[in-house]
Amino acid sequence: MNRTVVVGSVNRDYTFLLDHLPDRGETILSRRSYSSTGGKGANQAAALSKMGLEVAMIGAVGADEPGERAVEALAAYGVSVDHIIKKNVPTGSAFICVDKNAHNTIVVDPGANGALNCEDIDSAAQVIAEADFCLMQLEINLEVVAHAAEICREHGGKVVLNPAPAQKIPDELLSLTDYLIPNETELALLTGCEVNCHTAVAAARRLTDRGVKAVIVTMGEEGSCYVDGRQDFFIPAAETSAVDTTAAGDSYIGAFLSALSRGYEVRTAMEFASLAASITVSRQGASDSIPLLEEVERLL
Ligand code: RIB
Repeated sequence: MNRTVVVGSVNRDYTFLLDHLPDRGETILSRRSYSSTGGKGANQAAALSKMGLEVAMIGAVGADEPGERAVEALAAYGVSVDHIIKKNVPTGSAFICVDKNAHNTIVVDPGANGALNCEDIDSAAQVIAEADFCLMQLEINLEVVAHAAEICREHGGKVVLNPAPAQKIPDELLSLTDYLIPNETELALLTGCEVNCHTAVAAARRLTDRGVKAVIVTMGEEGSCYVDGRQDFFIPAAETSAVDTTAAGDSYIGAFLSALSRGYEVRTAMEFASLAASITVSRQGASDSIPLLEEVERLL
């Protein structure tokens, strides 16, 4: 089985269940609220571990209760947490509004995630060097992501980048990326193109032209599409009854990599990932809503 390292964020999520997302200037009451462990890095590490991979996480939390609870939760999922560092800054937090149609908006305060630096990556370089895949997102500083990507590629590993939250990425980092996995909004920002299910392939091709080996665009209920220098294809979304789309992308990515590691073809790995995401959105929460491997396999 392949080894994976996640270099990314750990957050405390504060989720509010609403009838509708607030308009500008509007104050609304939530139907219910709760907090749980989140952060795209932590969610993706949890997904990989729940799907049976050996996974280590490199990240940062504050010396506070949310940080402690997150590290405990990740360890309970089986993630190696030896390289989650405590910083003198509060643990990152995310404020998530979910409407009655399961759509959400998320505001992230990076907190300790923003304090993770290249020296921290150097201290954990061995873990990256030994990994077959290095999975990252953009809730930590871009220079840290680029540094980890360089170490990973130097040692023959594959770099997987989920460019979320959306921001511009320099060509040097794109050319170190084996799999780039954006959603439509992120792809639109990266390419300047309007992205929908009809234009996604052409937009993704702009990134393969700039050096990315392969792009997988996740498009929610429209499915996902794969583009590399030779081929492109669509995979439909699995049917589901969504209550909360938080961590849908995170579970898709974790399931995709776990299936690839078990030797599945890319197409089959994407189908498997769609099934995992369909379970995640049928439940509330982030890391805790992501299914175990056997739950996904039951749907095959
Ligand atoms: O992808 C979902 C995650 O985005 C949430 O858990 C939240 O913490 C934000 O990082």
